[in-house]
Amino acid sequence: MPAILFVGDIVAAAGRRTLRALLPGLREELGVDFVVVNGENAAGGVGITPQTADELFAIGADVITLGNHTYRHREVWPYLDQEQRILRPANFLTGQPGRGACVVERDGAKLGVVNLIGNLYLGPSNPAFAAIEGTLEEVAGADHVLVDMHAEATSEKVALGWHLDGRVTAVVGTHTHVPTADARVLPGGTAYITDVGMTGARGGVIGVRREQSIATMRTHMPIRYEPSEEDPWINAVLIRASQPRQADAIVQILRAAPS
Ligand SMILES: [Fe+2]
Ligand SMILES: [Fe+2]
Repeated sequence: MPAILFVGDIVAAAGRRTLRALLPGLREELGVDFVVVNGENAAGGVGITPQTADELFAIGADVITLGNHTYRHREVWPYLDQEQRILRPANFLTGQPGRGACVVERDGAKLGVVNLIGNLYLGPSNPAFAAIEGTLEEVAGADHVLVDMHAEATSEKVALGWHLDGRVTAVVGTHTHVPTADARVLPGGTAYITDVGMTGARGGVIGVRREQSIATMRTHMPIRYEPSEEDPWINAVLIRASQPRQADAIVQILRAAPS
């Protein structure tokens, strides 16, 4: 039965180290077949570079998804066009670098991965609910499909879960960096969670050193943010699916990095 591990936003070096430390054990313990990670904060806490993307692939990611910080580092723009297994939201403009869907194969099973970005409280993009139809056609031949809906508003993510229930294996939310307590398989067979959370330092404020985040909120003055290193955890979900596009279970994986 294919098992898909989806890892929430990997934040900075602490997040990458945590993935490197925990992934081999999780693979063994859970029998993981596919690893999909959200890497939009992998480089220094914001965005991703070719070097950090290569590092995530070397650690064991099969596919990397992104979000609103996709284009922060200019050097990744051509990489997004060249590397098939890194995705930016499918509902970005067609002229923006990269692609929004891909299919990977392991032991004869094909996993389609789709990245979408929400339309509420985030930068401009095409309507997610319109873009998903054409994007699903790109992964029509896949046995299993996982959609990473990178969005701020819980309502948009819940609605997409219901909208795609029965048509894809999983709809997982990212972006807020805080895991939600609503993981479940919807009646049509789609595994769903509003937010997977982040893989990074729990001692900060969604990945940022907490004294810097608090200072900005107290003083309303700009402060240079640095990623926190304190108390890193992995936030992930494991989805098992015995039938095509039908999940049997979704479980949260929330663990501290070994000290
Ligand atoms: Fe993020
Ligand atoms: Fe984000």
